Amino acid sequence: MAFQKTLLVIGAGPGIGRSVTGLFASKRYNNVVLIARRAEQLKLEEAALTEAVGSHVKVKSYAVDIANLDAFTKALDDAETAFGRPECVFYNAARVLPSELLTHDVKEIEYDFKITVSALYAVVQREMPNLVRIAKADSSAKPAVIVTSSALPQQPIPQLFALSLVKAAQRNLMESLSMTYGPQGVHIGLINVGGPVSPTDTERSPSNIAAKTWEWFSDGESFEVLIGY
Ligand SMILES: NC(=O)c1ccc[n+]([C@@H]2O[C@H](COP(=O)([O-])OP(=O)(O)OC[C@H]3O[C@@H](n4cnc5c(N)ncnc54)[C@H](OP(=O)(O)O)[C@@H]3O)[C@@H](O)[C@H]2O)c1
Repeated sequence: MAFQKTLLVIGAGPGIGRSVTGLFASKRYNNVVLIARRAEQLKLEEAALTEAVGSHVKVKSYAVDIANLDAFTKALDDAETAFGRPECVFYNAARVLPSELLTHDVKEIEYDFKITVSALYAVVQREMPNLVRIAKADSSAKPAVIVTSSALPQQPIPQLFALSLVKAAQRNLMESLSMTYGPQGVHIGLINVGGPVSPTDTERSPSNIAAKTWEWFSDGESFEVLIGY
């Protein structure tokens, strides 16, 4: 049997998530795991993926809120039983919600932190030893952790201050991961989209973001990619 390659997508949705997943699956992966909260939307994402790449790519989806670490871990356990450990973790979940300074509830900030940072930390903690092992064992492998982000870490928007601050923390974590595990052969990348995503925008369309992400994945050396700044 040919070597099975699994793409783990955390934050599957109709925008960047769908385009990156479709392109990456068409280029490299036999198995795709999709994680998001809404079961009905996940069915649409499964159908869109199969339409884009064909039914030879196996797909499984898990409806779970990744802010709930026990539920998230159970989904990752089930996905691993089905497809084995991922070669690539594509982390795309975020909550884009207006947050007004000093009236926004602190619990909402903590919820965003769980989605953006804690759940990322948990999945990387789980998968990194295997990604390092793959890097050492097989020079043709592309073990990777790819995270979508924005300009908010460096240019906070006060009306989106909660997302701005958790994205800054996420970027900081990714930079530490890059410094530590990049030299060990794991591709760590932050895909920064510098404004609203729109299918009609030449730079910030999901399809262009997917193409740029694949370009970085194929030959990029740097830790960050800037798109549509
Ligand atoms: N959209 C923009 O204008 C824009 C601009 C710059 C950067 N970005 C970045 O791009 C990424 C998202 O791309 P996108 O906006 O095009 O969205 P998308 O790929 O269409 O979907 C992302 C999906 O993440 C899922 N998600 C959110 N919270 C979750 C949670 N707690 N647990 C599990 N899944 C969760 C949501 O699905 P459920 O609701 O079903 O859970 C959502 O559909 C984020 O990193 C965002 O910061 C977006």
